Amino acid sequence: MCGIVGYIGHRDAYPIILNGLKRLEYRGYDSAGVALYDGTGIQMAKTKGKVADLEAKVNAEITPNGSLGIGHTRWATHGVPNDINSHPHYSNSGDLVIIHNGIIENYGSIKKELINRGYTFKSDTDTEVLVNLIEEIKKKEKVKLGKAVQIALNNVVGAYAIAVFDRNKPDEIVVAKLGSPLAIGIGENEFFVASDATPFIEFTNNAIYLEDEEMAIIRLKKGVKVRKIKDDSLVDPYIQELKLNIEQIEKGGYDHFMLKEIYEQPEVIKDTYRGRLLAKQGIIKMAGLEENMSKFVNANRIIIIACGTSWHAGLVAEYIFEEWARIPVEVEYASEFRYRNPIITDKDVVIAISQSGETADTLAAIKLAKQKGALVYGVCNVVGSTISRETHSGSYTHAGPEIGVASTKAFTTQITVLTMIALRLADVKGTMSKSDYMMHLRELEMIPDLVAAALKSEDKIKEIAKIFKDASNFLYLGRGYNFPVALEGALKLKEISYIHAEGYPAAEMKHGPIALIDEQMPVVVIAVNSNHYEKVVSNIEEIKARKGKIIAVVTEGDTVVKELADYVMEVPATPESLSPLVTTIPLQLLSYHIAVMLDKNVDQPRNLAKSVTVE
Ligand code: AGP
Repeated sequence: MCGIVGYIGHRDAYPIILNGLKRLEYRGYDSAGVALYDGTGIQMAKTKGKVADLEAKVNAEITPNGSLGIGHTRWATHGVPNDINSHPHYSNSGDLVIIHNGIIENYGSIKKELINRGYTFKSDTDTEVLVNLIEEIKKKEKVKLGKAVQIALNNVVGAYAIAVFDRNKPDEIVVAKLGSPLAIGIGENEFFVASDATPFIEFTNNAIYLEDEEMAIIRLKKGVKVRKIKDDSLVDPYIQELKLNIEQIEKGGYDHFMLKEIYEQPEVIKDTYRGRLLAKQGIIKMAGLEENMSKFVNANRIIIIACGTSWHAGLVAEYIFEEWARIPVEVEYASEFRYRNPIITDKDVVIAISQSGETADTLAAIKLAKQKGALVYGVCNVVGSTISRETHSGSYTHAGPEIGVASTKAFTTQITVLTMIALRLADVKGTMSKSDYMMHLRELEMIPDLVAAALKSEDKIKEIAKIFKDASNFLYLGRGYNFPVALEGALKLKEISYIHAEGYPAAEMKHGPIALIDEQMPVVVIAVNSNHYEKVVSNIEEIKARKGKIIAVVTEGDTVVKELADYVMEVPATPESLSPLVTTIPLQLLSYHIAVMLDKNVDQPRNLAKSVTVE
């Protein structure tokens, strides 16, 4: 997710854009740029790095004059972070400049067609393709910028929030939205466009939030005309009067980034499989995997290396890979792996999972695996991060920046990527019937709706949090696919509420931990419909017999566990192999609300950093 800002009005555009980008840096911060119309032409400066680096570059390279401009702070999806791939992007003629937040999935075919028509490209981005498609249509159809944008967007597939202007018509900006947010600030003879209202809230609290598949032509003298992209029909926009302050807007109206990111999961899981999972056609396409297919298919085993939550995602993947692709999997703490002398050969494939792509232990483990001849495949969230560059290949999770130190959307999007890899391998290896393969593709496509349904239990979960917030210890139990979820739930509680919690395989209770059970010990049990259901029910009965307090995660409509447990948190029925993507949701919310009620610093818990770049 990137941050976009635009201005057209009577003030100097640059200070407004620069300040706006600083406010949007939470949305993406690997490169930044600005384009200004200075009365005669366009001045542009852009750079890899943060907005502060852009400011230095502007001071060194251009004279930032003019009352029309656009700016961008990037979270790379296509093309690594560098100066050339930073936004804004010119069209070939230099007449148009564009900024874009989103992904154009079919940019490859459009780029080929434009190259055939003589266009050249400086960057690897989908955005530069889009601005030249708009230019080609504008020239060929002899239409105005707004019409050219409308036609172009009817030919692209993907998600976008764009702002584009023409140096030959410096009294207008054209914007459009599908899948990424775009707000228009309405001032006195001035207009603002941005990913959210933080860049303009100090100038006006009147805003139009474009709906999906809407565009707007913003003219200084004529105001804002909102149209439907599909048929160019006019829309009567609703002008909101905003009452949020800047901090609330950055967090999307949520109290903390962590809660915002918990609620982003339905959308970002879609972003993770966007353009990669084509369920109807029975296709999974992940370039990195395809390029290394023979290594994966002929691997003796897959070794997964990671830390913390990413290690838990690896444990889930172990169940999926072994059940579906029938490839032996070992999951290793990177911090341990790096100091052993592990037996690795070139017949092994190592998958390194890391949200930040900067975790020192994981990086060291990667280097060791490479030295020993294994193919090392990265599953990272930060494009161009050290781990993404150090691994031989990989797949990004496209979860957008995760600001909260406690990983939430990173976990579910990592599992989504790993599930797609396992499914593709099962299909190539023939270890899964075509009908099961097609079924699992459709099931995976349904997950965002099931996650959204699980989020609806938040109020109930808040009630449970209130009852147990003062407990000194928690136990988290799960079986099978949900054993790693029990570990993850315990980690979430520990790291943000500072309450001690342990995750265990439910069946392990009788080998010792059951001695811990008494009426002071809340036990969270993941007891959703699964092959282990009856066994989990008997584990619950064992705990009940020792007066343990039971908080169960159950499938909606469950009546058996509901009778036994003290409290239940319901999730929709989910196929067992995909259930971690859904059962983790109530555990994220439970830990979040307990931490808030204990007045902890949820987004920056004590002693923790978002990325552990030291040993
Ligand atoms: C999880 O909530 C923590 N933030 C932490 O365990 C994290 O998962 C771990 O440090 C690994 O980070 P990475 O995914 O960026 O490599």
